[in-house]
Amino acid sequence: MADFQTVAHVGDIPEGEGRAFHVNGKMVAVFLTNGEYSAINDLCPHMGASLASGYVEEGGVTCPWHAWRFCVKTGTWLDNPNSKTRTENYDVRVAGHEIQVLVPDPLATTAGAGEK
Ligand code: FES
Repeated sequence: MADFQTVAHVGDIPEGEGRAFHVNGKMVAVFLTNGEYSAINDLCPHMGASLASGYVEEGGVTCPWHAWRFCVKTGTWLDNPNSKTRTENYDVRVAGHEIQVLVPDPLATTAGAGEK
């Protein structure tokens, strides 16, 4: 069962920026905006660019390849919020000086897939 994993320490991610980390089989982009950490899947759902390296403003990150924008907290596609296109978001917590992210086990999210 997945548990929170430490990805960085407080101070490692500058305000208004993101960093990518490998957590439980996924690349996760962790952002610090207005003093709060948030985490979404790092891979842009368009063509897979790293969202952690995108420009962050007003709660959104702009993909560095084709400028699609995603909410750094919910993963919503800000250019078309009613679309089903989005990227996953994950729980983040600060424990002491450690920034920790919870990424569900891959099997937990696909349980039942392929069953007939
Ligand atoms: S890869 Fe992100 S917008 Fe195209």
